[in-house]
Amino acid sequence: MKKILLSIFIMGFGSPFSAQKSIDQKVSDLLAKMTVEEKAGQLSQLNSDWEDLTGPILQKKDEDKVVLIQQGKLGSILNVRSVAQTRMLQEYAMKSRLRIPLLFGQDVIHGFRTTFPVNIGQAASWDLNLIEKSERIAATEAAAFGIHWTFAPMVDISRDPRWGRVMEGSGEDTYLGSLIGVARVKGFQGKGLGNIDAVMACAKHFAAYGAAVGGRDYNSVDVSLRQLHETYLPPFKAAAEAGVATFMNSFNDINGIPATADAYIQRDLLKGKWGFKGFVVSDWGSIGEMVNHGYAKDKTDASLKAILAGSDMDMESRAYIENLPQLVKEGTIDIKIIDDAVRRVLTKKFELGLFDDPFRFCNDDRQKQQTNNPEHRKFGREFGSKSIVLLKNETSILPLSKTTKTIALIGPFGKETTANHGFWAVPFKDDKDRIISQYDGIKNQLSKNSTLLYAKGSNVDDEDRSMFAEAVETARNADVVIMTLGEGPNMSGEAKSRSNIHFSGVQEELLKEISKTGKPSVLLINAGRPLVFDWAADHIPTIMYTWWLGTEAGNSIADVLFGAVNPGGKLPMTFPRTEGQIPVYYNHYNTGRPAAKSTDRNYVSAYIDLDNDPKYPFGYGLSYTNFNYSDFQLSSEHPTGNQELKISVTVTNTGNFDGEEVVQLYIRDLVGKVVRPVKELKGFQKIFLKKGERRTVTFSLNPESLKFYDDQLSYEWEEGEFDIMVGTDSENVQTKRIYWKK
Ligand code: BGC
Repeated sequence: MKKILLSIFIMGFGSPFSAQKSIDQKVSDLLAKMTVEEKAGQLSQLNSDWEDLTGPILQKKDEDKVVLIQQGKLGSILNVRSVAQTRMLQEYAMKSRLRIPLLFGQDVIHGFRTTFPVNIGQAASWDLNLIEKSERIAATEAAAFGIHWTFAPMVDISRDPRWGRVMEGSGEDTYLGSLIGVARVKGFQGKGLGNIDAVMACAKHFAAYGAAVGGRDYNSVDVSLRQLHETYLPPFKAAAEAGVATFMNSFNDINGIPATADAYIQRDLLKGKWGFKGFVVSDWGSIGEMVNHGYAKDKTDASLKAILAGSDMDMESRAYIENLPQLVKEGTIDIKIIDDAVRRVLTKKFELGLFDDPFRFCNDDRQKQQTNNPEHRKFGREFGSKSIVLLKNETSILPLSKTTKTIALIGPFGKETTANHGFWAVPFKDDKDRIISQYDGIKNQLSKNSTLLYAKGSNVDDEDRSMFAEAVETARNADVVIMTLGEGPNMSGEAKSRSNIHFSGVQEELLKEISKTGKPSVLLINAGRPLVFDWAADHIPTIMYTWWLGTEAGNSIADVLFGAVNPGGKLPMTFPRTEGQIPVYYNHYNTGRPAAKSTDRNYVSAYIDLDNDPKYPFGYGLSYTNFNYSDFQLSSEHPTGNQELKISVTVTNTGNFDGEEVVQLYIRDLVGKVVRPVKELKGFQKIFLKKGERRTVTFSLNPESLKFYDDQLSYEWEEGEFDIMVGTDSENVQTKRIYWKK
C-alpha cells in the first residue's frame, strides 16, 4: 500500500526526493569541474554601486566586479533592483567558463514597490495573516524586479528601544517574534523556491544582535547560554523549521566570539542539531571586521575562522575571494569544507531554477505589472490601519466626524511623503508622487464643506522655534487639532541607536504651546521604536501610535481617524517611562526583592526616583469600543501529564463600535529549577466582534508550552503550580492557579 501511494505521489506530483537527488547530482558534477578560485567566487557577494543602471555603461570603479563576474569568480550581488540591471549582470555571468548564474540579493524589509508599516508596526497588528500576505506581495514585487533573495526576516528579539533596529523586528517577545518570523518566511517563499513569485528568505541576524549592550548598534553581546536559548534563538529555530532558505549572521560578538566565527551556533546548532540545509551569509563586512574585534589577526585569519565556523558566503569583505584559494592550496583548509559551503549555495541556485533559465526573473512585463499594483496598495492601506495602536482616547474625540468644520494638522510630518516609507525602503524616482501624505489622506476624507489647515510648526530635529507662532495661530482657528510628531524616519533603523528617545528637536515644546490653546487635540506619534513621551502621555487626552506606515500611510491614518477602521493594534514592546528604565520588559524575573507596587521603593528592586511599571505595557492597545472579559474557565485545576488544558474566556463588545480585540494568554511557572518570568505569552487570538456581540475564546496548553531551559540547557517541564492568565494586555489579566502533575 505504502509503495503504491509513493508511486502515485511520484507520478502525480514528482518526488521531492528524486528532484533533490538530481540537484545533488548536478551540484556534484559542477563541483567536480570548478577551480578553487571559482568556488571561492561562489562564496562571495559584492555590493552593486550602480544606483540607476539602465544601460550598459559601467563606471570605472565597477569594472573589477564585471571582470570577476566574467571570470566566474563572483556568486552574488546585492542591491541590484531592476530587470535591466539584473539582466545585464547575468549576461556577464553567462560569459564565464561554467556559466553559473548570479544570485541577486536585496533588503526587502517592509515591502518593495508598495511599502508597508515598518516591521515593529506590523507586529503591532498581531495579525499573522496580514503579515504573511504583506511578504507575499513584497516577494511578488521584488521577484518581478529581478530579485532572488531578500535579507529578511529580521527575527532579533530586543528589549532595548534605544537600539535603532527594533523597527525591523517584532519586538521583545520570543513567542510572538517566532510566529511572526515564520509568517514572514512563508510569505516570502510562497509555494516554494522555483516559483516565479518566490524569493529566498533570510533569517537574520544570527544571533542575539538585539541584545547589544546599551542598545548601541554593533555593540557586544554578553548573555548566558541559557538566556540565548530561551530568549534569542527560538525565532531562528522556528524559521529554520519553516524552511527558510538562508541565514545571515551578525556583527556582534556573543560572549567573546564574533557570531561570524561562532561554530557553536552555526555548525553545532544550525547545521547540526537543527538540520539546516541552506546557506549562511555573513553580515556586511563582518568577516573582515573580526580583525577589529581582535579575534583575527588579518583578513586571511578571519577567512579561515569564518569558513570553519560555518559562514558560507562572504558579504562585502572580499576576504574569501582573496584568501580561500591560498588557504586551500597550502592545506590549511580541507577542500571538503569549501565544497560543503559551495554545495549549499549552488543548491539554492538550482532550486530557484536559475540553471534552467538564468534570466527567468528578468521579465519586463512582470516588472511593469508590479510597478504600481492597485491591489497591493489597497492591501497596504488596510495593513497600515491595522498596525496603528490607540494609546489614549480619554475624551472620546475619536473617531472624528468628517464634517468637523475646521481641522488643523500641525507638525513636521503632516505633508511628508517619502518619510512614510520608513528606514528600509528601496528608493524609487516617483516616490514623492505616489506616497500618500497624512495631509492628503485626511483631506481626501474630509467633507467638502470642511477646511483642513496646516502648519509645520517645527523641523524634525533642530532648535528652530520660528514656526511656533504660526502653528499656534493655526490651532486657534481650528475646531480640532491633529498634531503629528515623533522621530524622523532615519532616526530608527541600522546604525540609528539613540541615547535620548524623546521626540526629537523642539517638538515637545511645540506640543506644549499648542496644547495651551485648549483646543481638542489628537496626537499622532510617528516612530520606528517605542519613544519616551511622558509629558504628552500625561497631558494629551488622545494619542495614536502610527509608526511609519508605508506607501498608503495617509489613507491608513485617515481611515482610523474618521472611524472607517476601528484601531486594534497592541504594543509588541514595552514603552518605558524614561530612558533610565531601559531595559524594561514584561517577562522579567521576580527577583528576591520584588516591589509590591510600582511606588514601593524601600529596599526592594526599584529605582529610588522612578516607578517600576512602564508607561505602556507589552500587549497594550485600546479600541473605540470596549471589551469585557468574563467567565474565565479552565478545564481542570489539576491537569496531569500530557493532558491538554483548555482555557476559555468570554469576550463581549460592550461599546458602540464593531472592533477587533487581541485576547492574550500568559502563564507563570511559580517555582522552577531556574527562576521563571513573572509572565510568559503562550497564546493570543485576534477576534472581531460586532457591537453587542460576545464570543467565547478557547486556548489550549499542553506541557510542551511549559518547557524551559535549565542551567544545563536541558529543555524540560516541571510538575508544580502555574498561574494561568488571560486578558487584554500583559498587565490587565485575570488569573487562576493550577497544579500540573507529571
Ligand atoms: C545589515 C543587514 C543587511 C545588509 C545588506 C547590513 O549592514 O546589518 O541587515 O541585510 O547590510 O544591506
